[in-house]
Amino acid sequence: MSVENIDSVLNEERLFEPAAIFKADARISSADTLATMRHHANEDYTGFWAEQARSEISWHQPFSTVLDKSHAPHYQWFSDGLMNVSYNCLDRHLETKGNHTAIVFEGEQGDIRTLTYHQLYADVCAFANALKAQGITKGDRIVIYMPMIPEAVIAMQACARIGAIHSVVFGGFSAESLKDRIEDAGARMLITADGGHRGGKIVELKAAADKALASGCATIEKVIVYQRTGHAIEFKEGRDLWWHDAIDCMDSICMPEWVEAEHPLFLLYTSGSTGKPKGIQHSSAGYLLGTITSMKWVFDIRDSDTFWCTADVGWVTGHSYVAYGPLAVGATILIYEGAPTVPNAGRFWDICQRHKVTIFYTAPTAIRALMKLGDEIPAQYDLSSLRLLGSVGEPINPEAWIWYHKTIGQERCPIVDTWWQTETGCIMIAPIPGAVATKPGSCTLPLPGIIADVVDENGNSINEPNKGGYLVIKKPWPSMLRTVWGDDERYIKTYWPKFGGKYYLAGDSARRDKDGYFWIMGRIDDVLNVSGHRLGTMEVESALVAHPRVAEAAVVGRPDEIKGEAIFAYVVLKGTRPAGGVDEVLTKELRAWVAEQIGPIAKPDDIRYSDNLPKTRSGKIMRRLLRTIAKGEEITQDTSTLENEAILLQLQGKV
Ligand code: PRX
Repeated sequence: MSVENIDSVLNEERLFEPAAIFKADARISSADTLATMRHHANEDYTGFWAEQARSEISWHQPFSTVLDKSHAPHYQWFSDGLMNVSYNCLDRHLETKGNHTAIVFEGEQGDIRTLTYHQLYADVCAFANALKAQGITKGDRIVIYMPMIPEAVIAMQACARIGAIHSVVFGGFSAESLKDRIEDAGARMLITADGGHRGGKIVELKAAADKALASGCATIEKVIVYQRTGHAIEFKEGRDLWWHDAIDCMDSICMPEWVEAEHPLFLLYTSGSTGKPKGIQHSSAGYLLGTITSMKWVFDIRDSDTFWCTADVGWVTGHSYVAYGPLAVGATILIYEGAPTVPNAGRFWDICQRHKVTIFYTAPTAIRALMKLGDEIPAQYDLSSLRLLGSVGEPINPEAWIWYHKTIGQERCPIVDTWWQTETGCIMIAPIPGAVATKPGSCTLPLPGIIADVVDENGNSINEPNKGGYLVIKKPWPSMLRTVWGDDERYIKTYWPKFGGKYYLAGDSARRDKDGYFWIMGRIDDVLNVSGHRLGTMEVESALVAHPRVAEAAVVGRPDEIKGEAIFAYVVLKGTRPAGGVDEVLTKELRAWVAEQIGPIAKPDDIRYSDNLPKTRSGKIMRRLLRTIAKGEEITQDTSTLENEAILLQLQGKV
């Protein structure tokens, strides 16, 4: 799809200068300091990153090569250095802040636990020893399918400690999705729990895991099960092992495995426009560096902070800003297991008040949902501990931004709207809160050392204000993905298909305003962004077509007030179309079916039945037309190439 004709309709002129109170203590507190950093990065790109890597990472063996481009676009950073991510997150803090709180955990049912860096270190070591006792060695893949509890982080850190590669699968994904990910990664072990508490119910993780394993996953040898809920589950002798038994008698010291900087730290599966989810592969040192610099620059993190990123560890945000970045800088994080509205709509604000949260980082979908519940709810809580607010996952609409600023931040806290992706590893475009004025809806400017641009079809920079184009990154950066697991070809085709393979193609369209601020406009491919999570239209279509009654399906997004995008599915059945295009029973069944195949987040919000899908003569589905119809807009496209124009009325739900 061409992005050149996209002109922006958004015209947001409000500018918010960094609050004086924030600026006074900020690490980067002036535009001049920031300009100096940018200048350094622009003049001596590799020197800039080498300096960061030397000062921010504790190396076992220092690196001498900074950036190796010889296998481009498979770039390597700091490749002859040796280090360990878990060592950087734990051991190096023990002497100075062993008794500093690393994790404050609150379960949905109100149980609270805190872990100091000493305790977290001991727990990670014991579990790392347990993994070794089960025969896990460097390079083995381990799938983690856990609730949002400290043990999810402990499991990730333990993998990092021994050089095993983890792949966390979001607990909301179905058995089928879990199975696909286990098989693609060729994992030897699955770490899960008997369940988790969410939305007042138990999430049956172990039952889903059993189902996944019963249908395949031949590479899995052992399943370690953490006892979270204590309710009855099936246990398979010989394969399943309780977490508490696995760590019983294990030493609470485990020497880290020193790995090469490029050793894969993890895989994380994400949706693409075609085919099955891609296992995005991240490195150890480069990835860690990006999480550390962004923690310092964007979140201005300090020891006195309690940092709460609400993302689940199943997403990249939960990797970079729960499990790794904050621990690497020795911060205190808050982890909350459950839903934002249990037992009532004030839960998030109640947590902020009781634990004196200072930095709160969440997604626009959550902000909009909480905004809808009314100002009276946050007004009942003391939110004076907050000093900085963040947003991630999708563009934040100005209305939600202003609400966040006024009602939650009480006009005191800067808002950092952070643009990044699973592939980028860490935040790429975002305000430095003490130095950059913000505009509601804009992620502002690229971080130092990130060479982002908006270009046209030919790769030329678009300098005309507010003209849309492709968002690209023009130079490799340390925390970038290294490849798609087991599929280098797909990596090259997806991310480097244009501009002679020179620029990383993010897959988003963007524009820059007269001040050079970036505004993300949306995806250029068939990827939906539902509640800040990426879903390929193809994935949902494949799930629908797998149902015995469905012949064909086309899925598009339509704007949704809370979720950002809602899923609209057009379905052609085998046999006759239901009268009037409505069949509530079947619709319910198909929604449940998709939830079963992928997970509840992929459930179509609307399903409309028609005799056919609108196709061009060459057989391509006219998605733009379907999007127009889903939005309820007038059709202005040329429909003369349609074989059967009469189906338009069916697609519109008029007959
Ligand atoms: O379209 C952009 C949108 O989310 C996509 C990345 O999705 P994912 O890999 O799941 O990672 C989400 C969390 C980092 C991007 O290509 N996106 C993410 N953050 C923003 C955003 N769109 C606009 N503004 C943002 N701050």
